[in-house]
Amino acid sequence: MTNYSTEPAPIGIFDSGYGGLTILDEIRAQLPQYDYIYLGDNARTPYGSRSFDVVYEYTLQCVKQLFEMGCHLVILACNTASAKALRNIQQKDLHTLDSSRRVLGVIRPTVEIIGDITKTKHVGLLGTLGTIQSNSYPLEIKKLFPDISVTGEACPLWVPIIENNEHMHQGADYFVKKNIENLLRKDDKIDSIILGCTHYPLLINKIKAYTPSHITIVSQGKYVAQSLLQYLQRHPEIEAKCTKNGEVQFFTTESVEKFQSSASIFLQQKVEAKRITLV
Ligand code: DGL
Repeated sequence: MTNYSTEPAPIGIFDSGYGGLTILDEIRAQLPQYDYIYLGDNARTPYGSRSFDVVYEYTLQCVKQLFEMGCHLVILACNTASAKALRNIQQKDLHTLDSSRRVLGVIRPTVEIIGDITKTKHVGLLGTLGTIQSNSYPLEIKKLFPDISVTGEACPLWVPIIENNEHMHQGADYFVKKNIENLLRKDDKIDSIILGCTHYPLLINKIKAYTPSHITIVSQGKYVAQSLLQYLQRHPEIEAKCTKNGEVQFFTTESVEKFQSSASIFLQQKVEAKRITLV
């Protein structure tokens, strides 16, 4: 067991880069009373094309960092990390690090609501190469909704486009259009598309522009926030360890200037960040 602080602390929100800000935004809208620490591993983003072992190693390092900062509860606001690292961390690492701390992901809350959204039972999934190849969504959806079929399309360029702040520009249209068309060509009965990467809501205007209007686009933030709210209600022992001053601190593994300017655009508020070197 590691000797982390036992004092109440903010909730940790982790992503490989800026994508988790879309989750943080929704969580703060629904749970404004809590404090949060956001950690973006911008120096090593994207995770999406990296191997299972590397994503696991990087994610574990970031979780340990958030534990060092006192967090008792960490949300992996990243589908790639949720797909490739969450299970190992929950089942193996927490026992040796500190079994009283908790780490949650974003896939399960999304899977739980999809049965209420699709009518045709044909669901599309857009995600990073890692998330699509992991098969996590189809496997998890099968467990809850055996009659739903899931068709995936990897969009390996979408995260780099967003991390480089090019998502508002015309060049992004080519890739958004191409991947959505590819997905719908694979299954023309799709009536709901899961944005299975937390970066993708930042491309929402372009995604909407290239998606037929009868298809529901499912952004995860709202559902992850609802699920967190229910989790905290079910686990008063964890809830009691979360501080409540309505504050957020931002940390990045890359340049502070770049993070501040991009995060301020994404969140539409002034963001002050600190650079962190992972141990
Ligand atoms: N936001 C991460 C996700 O949800 C992006 C992964 C990446 O860094 O490629 O998968």
